[in-house]
Amino acid sequence: MLSRSAARLLTTQTRAFSTTSTRQTKVAVLGAGGGIGQPLSLLLKIDPLVSSLSLYDIRGAPGVAADVSHIDTDSTVKGYTADQLDDALDGAKVVVIPAGVPRKPGMTRDDLFNTNASIVRDLAASVGRVAPEAHILVISNPVNSTVPIVAKTLEKAGVFDPRRLFGVTSLDVVRAARFLGEVSGNDPKNTVIPVVGGHSGATIVPLLSQNAYGKSISGETYSKLVHRIQFGGDEVVKAKDGAGSATLSMAYAGAKFANAILRGLNGEKGVITPTFVKSELFADQGVDFFSSNVELGKNGVEKIYPVGPLSAEEQKLLEACLPDLKKNIEKGYAFVA
Ligand code: NAI
Repeated sequence: MLSRSAARLLTTQTRAFSTTSTRQTKVAVLGAGGGIGQPLSLLLKIDPLVSSLSLYDIRGAPGVAADVSHIDTDSTVKGYTADQLDDALDGAKVVVIPAGVPRKPGMTRDDLFNTNASIVRDLAASVGRVAPEAHILVISNPVNSTVPIVAKTLEKAGVFDPRRLFGVTSLDVVRAARFLGEVSGNDPKNTVIPVVGGHSGATIVPLLSQNAYGKSISGETYSKLVHRIQFGGDEVVKAKDGAGSATLSMAYAGAKFANAILRGLNGEKGVITPTFVKSELFADQGVDFFSSNVELGKNGVEKIYPVGPLSAEEQKLLEACLPDLKKNIEKGYAFVA
């Protein structure tokens, strides 16, 4: 039997998914056997916009697929082993990538670069070859570098379309809403905090001033809240004590973002959420990728919104973000070059 908290999660998640009409959409998860991959596969199985779920991992995916496939929703599920990546990707419209190693206590996301860069590059090369029109959602860290790696890999293959590549930063948005709610007492469900920049430490820039509750927070409460949003991942890494980083909240955030992508593909208008994409906003400062509010549609990225009005503190946060982000992006580019 489900625990009360698990039952509540499922109810909330089912509510979080909205659908205008159903459509045939194959979604592939690369890294489906992992800490994020498993609950993410579960949540995608209950998304009515997913018609077929393709679960791939170098280990464990058939087991996850067999398990998830018994859930009484309309979609079909198939698991693929290490040598079946092409089959897993065949016909995929959306590819979600949580493959790679997570952090241990004391590690930064950049410490994962050496292992995850090649995993993501090789998976991206296969997506470019087998499913060049797929929308690619990158969860594997360091997102600030892995997304440029995917872009360059696809560019080399001659199939890069910036409208179809997304770094998943939605956990930062989820955390911002939750943590603000804890400070101000409002229901996080109705809170939208744009979180811009990148996805690690100081590159995470929450724009609290753009929210009715957030803009009244000041002083030490403000600094602590910003720090918690920027370094919230560390709380989980520390509490898991060597067993990994955020998996359940990440799966929730990833499924929510995938649902936004699917709603856009399905023709729904006004689907707007922050995500890390190829962006002109700060390209003149050498920052080719940036997360800001993006309108999603039938072709993926339809419109990239500017950051909007910033408070003096947020201006400072942005100034601190850009040089770090530039370095992370260049590191990703250099890896593929
Ligand atoms: P995990 O170690 O539990 O799972 C990773 C899975 O990837 C494993 O099942 C492994 O077999 C698989 N894998 C490794 N190489 C592969 C390959 N070449 N092809 C397919 N699968 C492969 O790790 P976890 O906790 O699921 O984290 C995954 C990634 O997500 C990490 O890089 C982590 O840092 C990142 N992450 C990103 C967040 C975000 O906000 N974007 C939040 C939390 C974690």
